Amino acid sequence: MFIAGNWKLHKGPQEADTLATALKRALADETAVDIAVAPPFISIPAVVDRLKHTGILVAGQDVHPEIKGAFTSAVSSEMLKDAGCAYTLVGHSERRSIFGDDDAVVNAKVHAAFRAGLLPILCCGETLPQREAGQAVEVVTRQLAAGLAGLAADQVVSTTIAYEPVWAIGTGVTASPDQAQEMHAAIRSWLAANFPAFVPTQTRIQYGGSVKPGNARELLSQPDIDGALVGGASLDADSFLAIVRAGA
Ligand code: PGA
Repeated sequence: MFIAGNWKLHKGPQEADTLATALKRALADETAVDIAVAPPFISIPAVVDRLKHTGILVAGQDVHPEIKGAFTSAVSSEMLKDAGCAYTLVGHSERRSIFGDDDAVVNAKVHAAFRAGLLPILCCGETLPQREAGQAVEVVTRQLAAGLAGLAADQVVSTTIAYEPVWAIGTGVTASPDQAQEMHAAIRSWLAANFPAFVPTQTRIQYGGSVKPGNARELLSQPDIDGALVGGASLDADSFLAIVRAGA
């Protein structure tokens, strides 16, 4: 079970330190669940410092494909690694829709993560019109095929897939446990059809999209749901703790 909190554009260094302190106090001894938090870049050093010697790992929310150069405002995976991150999100739907990350860019970012020794959390998910048109599985598997292109099987296993239906992100509308399970099973079948047999059994697939303390247990008890990527409910220590506990 792997629960990750995506803080998005919330929590500057001081607020991030306060939240990390609360998480450290409550979760330092949590071993049943793998936990990560993804603060904004500028807050990463404070959070890494606060969470050192705990099991809570730190993730970037995005990464630039290049190592260095004239890419104003960008942060490389090598820099995230140097700052103490273990993971980075890649291909979040807000990156895709607001910042224009297409499948090729997402794939380059996945490779950049591995180049630096970071583990990618590769996000995928369909929009509401795509779901209503019956294209959800096709859209998600296309995103995965593109995002995972060129990886060795052991790298695919080290990649966490986060299925986040776009219509459920930040909307308060959650995919029903059945809808989520159905897509997770489809993702696992797709992995089985495209990679060696150990890949579908060992690759973790998180659900994301309005995960809250009240719905976490039912979602996380689905057979193909191996964790959650939590946005809004990860900004409050108590609600994030409740979700982690639901996965324990
Ligand atoms: P949400 O965000 O939990 O606020 O819906 C999830 C995400 O975007 O990762």
